[in-house]
This record gives sequence, C-alpha cells and structure tokens, in this order.
Amino acid sequence: MIKRVGVLGCGLMGSGIVEVCARAGYEVVVREVNDDFLAKGLGKLEGSLNTAVEKGKLKKEERDAARARIRGTTKVQDMKDVDCVIEAIVEDRAAKKEIWTEIGKVVKKEALLATNTSSIPLSSIAPSTGNPTRFLGLHFMNPVPIMKLVEIVRGIQTTDETLAEGRSFIESLGKTTITAKDTPGFVINALLVPYICEGVRLLEAGVATAEDIDKGMKLGCNMPMGPIELLDFVGLDTTLSISEVLFSEFRDRKYAAPPLLRRMVESGFMGKKSGRGFYDYSKKDKR
Ligand code: 3HC
Repeated sequence: MIKRVGVLGCGLMGSGIVEVCARAGYEVVVREVNDDFLAKGLGKLEGSLNTAVEKGKLKKEERDAARARIRGTTKVQDMKDVDCVIEAIVEDRAAKKEIWTEIGKVVKKEALLATNTSSIPLSSIAPSTGNPTRFLGLHFMNPVPIMKLVEIVRGIQTTDETLAEGRSFIESLGKTTITAKDTPGFVINALLVPYICEGVRLLEAGVATAEDIDKGMKLGCNMPMGPIELLDFVGLDTTLSISEVLFSEFRDRKYAAPPLLRRMVESGFMGKKSGRGFYDYSKKDKR
C-alpha cells in the first residue's frame, strides 16, 4: 500500500507530479540536486497551488494541507522510507541510469519504481534499478495538474502485479490511464513528436508563419494549441531529445529533428521556460 511517494526532480514535470500526489493525500518527498533548483521547483509548485485556489479548484485549507505534506531534500538517502519512487529528471539515458543505480541501493525492496521518461525504452534503464520487475513507466502529461491522462508503460520485466499497482495508484490521483508497450515514444510521443516536427518543417520551408500554422491547427482542427506553440510549451530541448531517441531507434526520417529545431536549442531558446522559443515570452506570459 502506497502512503509515501518520492519524486526525483522538481522541474516542469516533477513539480507537477509532486503537486498532484500531495493533493491526493500522499506524503511526498521531492529530491533535487541542489537547494537552488529545489527552491525554484517548490516555488513553481506553490504558484500552481495558488492558481488552483484562484480558479476555484481547491480550497485554501486544502492547498495548505497539500503543501504541508511536501518535503524537499537534496539527499538520495531520503528515499529510503518511500513506497513509490517516481523519477522525473532530465530526459537523458545516462543520467537516468545513474540516479536509478543510487536509488536502487537505498529504496525499500517492495517499493514501486517508476520513470516519467517520455521516450527512452524502459528496458534500457530497468537493470540499473536492481529490481526490474517492480519498474514501470508512468508518463505524466504537461501541465500535470490539468491533464487527465497518464500513459503507463510496461517494460519487458514489469510484472502484472506491478502494472496493476501502478494503475490503481494513478487512478487514486484522479487521472485516467492508457497502457503501452515498451517501444520508443510509446503511444503519445510516437504520434505527437513527428507532428510537432512537421510543424517546424513547414515553418523552415517558409510555407506559413508560426502564427498561421498554429492558428490553422487551433481553428481548423480544434487543437488547444498549434504545434509551434505546443513545442514552446513542452520545451524545445525535451522535444529534440525525444526525436533523437525515436530517430536512433527507427532510422526513419519522419522522426528526425528538423535542423531549425536543433539550431534553436543550440542558441539557448528552449521555449516558454527559458523566456524564448519560436515565440518571445520575455515581455508577456504568453505571446
Ligand atoms: N490546478 C487545477 N486546475 C487548474 C490549474 C491548477 N493549477 N490551473 C488551471 N486549472 C484548470 C482551470 O480552472 C480550467 O478548468 P475548467 O476547464 O474546469 O474551467 C482548466 O484547468 C484549464 O485552465 P485555463 O483555462 O487556465 O487554461 P487554458 O484553457 O488556457 O488551457 C492548457 C491551457 C490546458 C495548457 C491548454 O492550452 C492545452 O490543453 N494545451 C495542450 C497541452 C498538451 O497538449 N499537453 C500535452 C503535452 S505532451 C506531454 O506532456 C508529453 C511529454 O512527454 C512531451
């Protein structure tokens, strides 16, 4: 039975995961690499809790109770008492293997072990955990407090019991699940990333402006955001990493990152989180 949840990483995804777990009544310990990153992540989380109160989704007392259930740390050792670990660090295979090797040494044997990877095959990380039968993918969507779905990914060694526990845990957060096999990009990003990359290719080819590409998909296809706006929202670096994983597995051009996306990342334009992507967010919240 899960009572305490440990989250690794308090960035865009990690802070959202911490928030939904705490709001669902779990005690949460969140680990970041240093105090600055931790303070930034917790600040973002508090902002989101306040927004939920402003939007009438949460009472003030519920916000305060949720915040009181969250503890920040910079020590991996503090994961020793949790019943479930959710890793939401940078989308880098080597970094994920390294943190799981550390976690594997401290966490309880019966704990549920989950990665929020958006594309890296689970089976390439699973051995590092030291307990691959308890390991699965819980792929949350951004913004975590708002999006209804979590994609559950079954690795080659994930047992039925682990999968069922993962599903019931996610349902306890008020989310809906789909289940995917351990193939690169699973369901969501195998569809979404080629779509976003096609949007950038249209822009690169000068077919239309970013505004018109986005307007086209919003007003013409009822998407909440167009592909370029969504790319800025998800993060250019994250999307580039995902497309690289997909391309390296399939060697299919449809997954290849457009050169323009790579040039933008090299220039430090990571999207909304960095103040500039294909749109400029430095002066206003949204274009
Ligand atoms: N907690 C709880 N609820 C909140 C909240 C919070 N912190 N903040 C806002 N809400 C609620 C609002 O009250 C509102 O609820 P209502 O529909 O009942 O009125 C709802 O959430 C929407 O909020 P807003 O009205 O403020 O926001 P918008 O209508 O402008 O929509 C958006 C914002 C939800 C981000 C929308 O633009 C959207 O859906 N964009 C696409 C997002 C998307 O595709 N995400 C997936 C990305 S892919 C991914 O994550 C995978 C990764 O691996 C790449």
